[in-house]
Amino acid sequence: MSNTVMSKQDALVSCPAPGETAGNVNSADSVSAAGKTTSAAGTAPEKKTISDKKLLEVKNICVQFGSHRHPFTAVDDVSFDIYQGETFGLVGESGSGKTTIGRAIIRINPITKGEILFDGKRISGKLSREEDQQVTRDIQMIFQDPMSSLNERAKVGYIVAEGLYAPGNRYTEEERNEKVKKALLDVGLLPEFASRFPHEFSGGQRQRIGIARALVMDPKFIVADEPISALDVSIRAQVLNLMSRLQKERGLTYLFIAHDLSVVRFICDRIAVIHKGKIVELSESEELFRHPLHPYTKALLSAIPQPDPEVEKHKELLVYDPSMHDYSIDKPVFEEILPGHFVYGNKKELDGYRKEVGLSSDT
Ligand SMILES: Nc1ncnc2c1ncn2[C@@H]1O[C@H](COP(=O)(O)OP(=O)(O)OP(=O)(O)O)[C@@H](O)[C@H]1O
Ligand SMILES: [Mg+2]
Repeated sequence: MSNTVMSKQDALVSCPAPGETAGNVNSADSVSAAGKTTSAAGTAPEKKTISDKKLLEVKNICVQFGSHRHPFTAVDDVSFDIYQGETFGLVGESGSGKTTIGRAIIRINPITKGEILFDGKRISGKLSREEDQQVTRDIQMIFQDPMSSLNERAKVGYIVAEGLYAPGNRYTEEERNEKVKKALLDVGLLPEFASRFPHEFSGGQRQRIGIARALVMDPKFIVADEPISALDVSIRAQVLNLMSRLQKERGLTYLFIAHDLSVVRFICDRIAVIHKGKIVELSESEELFRHPLHPYTKALLSAIPQPDPEVEKHKELLVYDPSMHDYSIDKPVFEEILPGHFVYGNKKELDGYRKEVGLSSDT
């Protein structure tokens, strides 16, 4: 089936719930398959709340691959905190270590240095069986490619319920079915879809199935690894709106991974920019767009297409060349330049960044 037909189908059977706007899709989207109008009219969207409690603390982690003799450091001394209710963006080019960090958080990739705390407790390294089962429920992941991340041979009902069969969960079949039904409805799909196979769905619907699979575990934290990159442009907004509605309703906290800054601008509260396994800049989203300081962030920003064709035509595309940094004597550190705005650089560079934002170099 062609993409166009599939996206239309997606628009017809995926029903944005109250408070979730359909984005740039056709009007069929505001009518659910059950024929009920589900427009946002009349229902005030719940407000997102970010607490000052650190839900996730990533402290100086390193992840190495390769042999003992020829180790390859994919993640190099990375630290950041994510607050409860926050959406934290991690942005960088292909191969920069984003997925590796996500997988370290869900404990697939062991870390070689540092530690990860969740809800104040260490989750890296060895855990007791009970702790392990609790963290497995609390932290879920949504994957980039909904086409390859779902088991083609299993029915949607089983795919969504899979985590509920894990040790430590004792649900009756009835309870499992009820949870699956609720998760499907929560992501705008019909409970009847449980008896179908993944290939019967469009990309957007499959990503909703992937989200339902995470939600069914009632997680506190979700690692969303490029959740919209593989989707048709027309349905990306729907998936983002869905994620943001679920966050407000359930008080979820997200790590949102992307390789393009334009995607994370509106969904993320803070953004970390990563290059070759190192975070080079971290700040609140709007501040990052207002005062990009590291040359790699500037290069990523210059790659965002501008809506005005005249501006786009005359835009200077910046290319980042890491050899511009001379760290042989003056060693780099990760330092706070403005409140909450950190940049990686040596003394000379950091002085330059301070000047750029109007501060004198000794403040
Ligand atoms: N299991 C593995 N074994 C060996 N090397 C790996 C493994 N997983 C990742 N790498 C390497 O680690 C580096 C970071 O990979 P990672 O998948 O985290 O990048 P990424 O930022 O997610 O890229 P993309 O945007 O393409 O998804 C890459 O050089 C990759 O080849
Ligand atoms: Mg990746």
